[in-house]
Amino acid sequence: MTTASANLNIMIKAARLAARGLMRDFGEVENLQVTSKSAGDFVSRADIKAEQIIRDTLTEARPTYGWLGEESEEVKGEDPTRRWIVDPLDGTTNFLHGMPHWAISIALEHKKQIVAAVIFDPVKDEMFTSEKGAGAWMNDRRLRVTNRRDMIEMVFATGIPFAGSPALPAHLKQTARVAPQCAGIRRWGAAALDLAYVAAGRYDGYWEMGLNPWDIAAGILLVKEAGGMVEPIAEGSDLMGRNGCIAANADAFAKFASTVRG
Ligand code: IPD
Ligand code: CA
Repeated sequence: MTTASANLNIMIKAARLAARGLMRDFGEVENLQVTSKSAGDFVSRADIKAEQIIRDTLTEARPTYGWLGEESEEVKGEDPTRRWIVDPLDGTTNFLHGMPHWAISIALEHKKQIVAAVIFDPVKDEMFTSEKGAGAWMNDRRLRVTNRRDMIEMVFATGIPFAGSPALPAHLKQTARVAPQCAGIRRWGAAALDLAYVAAGRYDGYWEMGLNPWDIAAGILLVKEAGGMVEPIAEGSDLMGRNGCIAANADAFAKFASTVRG
């Protein structure tokens, strides 16, 4: 990849440090013969530990930046224009069930725009990185979204709302519109990787309702820097405001987005 900025190098370092502990814990989870409650507690401790490692690494290097992480209170920085947006373990349910599809997601926001992104899948040793204006990368390979235009040839990812979410009926209507028009829909369970895979040209597009900023912040930059588009499902709303998101290659975006939106 092109030369990484100091900030991106710090983000990569934080992701690698957290990944060491998570990989150890993932090995444990795979072997755990315990009740679902204690496995759940074990994973939530792993998640919190990973966030602490990332936070210590980032704040030691950049003490004035703000912080928004899944597992802790938001902290306003002395520098109000910059903040880290971090999901220490995206794909928690996969992790808990011993499924090797989860990632660490770290984004840097400057003046409300994401300017640097890291999504690290340590099981597959895939490090997705991006900086505004410098493209999107996976390890040393430059990423491009797909160039398919016909929905019937396209494979999409989505997230299905689970227990406690009132969004299921709306999601099922979206799926009922998309499914008959495409080559397949996947639900792999890690939003950050869903977006990284759109950037990598593995999926042609992705949509999901009600996501948090830490699920999508890094992935948004990856998709855009790989030549794709990302918008909130509710047109004109705030992409980072739990309004869900639609991502796809730029040629197919309009058709895909109008199918999802209905
Ligand atoms: C979840 C995953 C999942 C998505 C959920 C997210 P978590 O994040 O990204 O794919 O469907 O909406 O909350 O809880 O594993 O960090
Ligand atoms: Ca997440």
